[in-house]
Amino acid sequence: MATALSQTQSTDHRLGFKSLDEEVAVDRLPVSGALPAWLTGALVRVTPALFEIGDRRVAHWFDGVAMLNRFGFTDGSVSYKSRFLESRAYRDAQEGRIRHAGFATDPCRSIFKRVQAIFSPGFTDNPNVNLARVGERYIAMTETPLPVEFDPETLDTLGYLEFADSLKSHVTTAHPHHDRERDELVNYVAHFSKTSEYVLYALPPGSTERRVIARMPVREPAYMHAFGMSGRHLILAEYPLRVNPLKMALSGKPFIENYVWRPELGTKLQVFDRETGAHRGSFETDAFFCFHHVNAFEREPGELVVDLVAYDDASVIDQLYLNEDGPRGTLGRTELRRYTIDLDGGTVTWEALPGGHDVELPRIDYGRRNTRDYGYAYFAGWGEESDWIDRLVKVDVREGARSEWSSPGCYPGEPIFVREPGNDSEDGGVILSVVLDAAAGRSFLLALDAGSFEELARAEAPHHIPFGFHGEYLRS
Ligand SMILES: [Fe+2]
Repeated sequence: MATALSQTQSTDHRLGFKSLDEEVAVDRLPVSGALPAWLTGALVRVTPALFEIGDRRVAHWFDGVAMLNRFGFTDGSVSYKSRFLESRAYRDAQEGRIRHAGFATDPCRSIFKRVQAIFSPGFTDNPNVNLARVGERYIAMTETPLPVEFDPETLDTLGYLEFADSLKSHVTTAHPHHDRERDELVNYVAHFSKTSEYVLYALPPGSTERRVIARMPVREPAYMHAFGMSGRHLILAEYPLRVNPLKMALSGKPFIENYVWRPELGTKLQVFDRETGAHRGSFETDAFFCFHHVNAFEREPGELVVDLVAYDDASVIDQLYLNEDGPRGTLGRTELRRYTIDLDGGTVTWEALPGGHDVELPRIDYGRRNTRDYGYAYFAGWGEESDWIDRLVKVDVREGARSEWSSPGCYPGEPIFVREPGNDSEDGGVILSVVLDAAAGRSFLLALDAGSFEELARAEAPHHIPFGFHGEYLRS
């Protein structure tokens, strides 16, 4: 599957793995083309930005220290601001130290301290994966349950969002869902112990007390970066990348290196009723790995559809360790897959959706289409010859049609769909993506017409912005 990059290949995309250590604020970026006048909010993204700490380089892309980038839109002009999130991990980095275990980067310390770190709050708080709105508050997140609140205008760090409940947890996802009826955030945590468990919960707006939806004991928890939510169900896809929590406590290895790929276990889709919390079943299918779910919905009563971006195995995690100047390898091959679960029959089948090959970082018109049958998914993608993500992809999931945007020497990030107010068509809006122009040595904010997938405008940032994962468009 994934092939290692040789030193003789182009190094252009590697600029996206170079640290950015300055914080800047620019009132007006140079804009070419025209942005729609209705675009008046801000695109805020979080990205790993600092890869050197003291005399060390972090081991993995997922361990770069988190920075916020904000593109603000007013009357066709674009402002730009970047700030580090002042997490504990950032403050330690300022002192040249890594004090807490990251995804694949270990601090230097004794075995005793390592054991303490795993079963007490010793994980990193570096919130470099995603952000979300919780009621009126905004948080940046990683996969440890220490969300960091920030001001979406100034990008000031406001402190941890502390929970008032006693729910124990060690890991979570940075991909909470939003329950649009209740305006609740929905997520899951895993608690590691002699008897570990997954806990699915909802966080009501304005509250810091999580409401437990469902619990499930598990001996060897799976690494799950995201999960699915349909109108009636929550779906945990347990890939066979499993951890033995007791062994982890003693291993002294960085977090993800405690997880073992065990394809003989297959993948189990655990389905829970959102209202009652009842476990609707464990639906077993062939082994695969996935970071991102795309959507889930009930096609008819008893038939649950789960769309996600699948890898044959978890080797992509290894490919994203960092060498001196870039990732060890490439992203390999992926497929947009549709798993269809017969809830009463106890079976699951799957198909690869046409047009959905070699894509990642999926987005949909989440506000209107998540939990519902839908027409379009947007991705960052690549081709067989690509050294990195080098195109944006729109897939018509019903028709199998694929549209692409690319530009020579350019490496785009996650495409975020922004609906045009009053436009009822599912792709009536724009796609925003932060793109690295390697030759220019800078990044730009790209706007595409989501319908035609044609370029509308670019706003040039003053410097390169390291490749990041996720962000949100915040309406003004
Ligand atoms: Fe993600």
